[in-house]
Amino acid sequence: LRVAVLVSGRGSNLQALIDAVAAKELAVDIVVVGSNKVAAEGLRRAEAAGIATFALDPAGYADRAGYDREFFERLGEYAPDLVVLAGFMRVIDPAALAPWIGRVINIHPSLLPKYAGLKTHARALAAGDARHGASVHYVTAELDGGPVIAQVDLAIEPGDTPDSLATRLLPLEHRLLRQCVAWIADGKVALAGERVHVDGVAR
Ligand code: GRF
Repeated sequence: LRVAVLVSGRGSNLQALIDAVAAKELAVDIVVVGSNKVAAEGLRRAEAAGIATFALDPAGYADRAGYDREFFERLGEYAPDLVVLAGFMRVIDPAALAPWIGRVINIHPSLLPKYAGLKTHARALAAGDARHGASVHYVTAELDGGPVIAQVDLAIEPGDTPDSLATRLLPLEHRLLRQCVAWIADGKVALAGERVHVDGVAR
């Protein structure tokens, strides 16, 4: 499976995939890492691992549609079977996304459908939730709204802050993302219409 990873920042989820491939725990080829941020640490991690990279700065594009068209054209040159959004902080224009639907997944730090969008840890705390977590889902035109593949969760403890929650959740995110990519590589999970299919059965 040819995998592209898109990052906007730190890239620890990308690193988890790189490490799993290096350890032969994940049988995919990470063919490119792309970013909307030239300075993203994730790009440096890819370079260190000998993976091709590209970065396209949205400044200089008149609109989202034009930028995303070009971004996905660049991505397409690497012919990825799967595109993993791992801390990619952009909403993708529906027209640019349409031909890719079913091949793009995202990791989001909440128990979707709760808390689409930003500041998920603070929102879970403010709501007094007992549990918090992360989701990997197929990307559709609806922000953080596509069908969920799998989730991890943890208990919110008294005294938790957005930072402490984020710190505790991150290693679980890494494991979840590795697992979901492995399932897709094994053909165990796929998107069919608007449903996730597991072993060919709609869930
Ligand atoms: C993760 O919490 C991910 O769930 C969210 O952005 C963060 C990215 O972290 N979408 P990193 O760049 O992978 O370290």
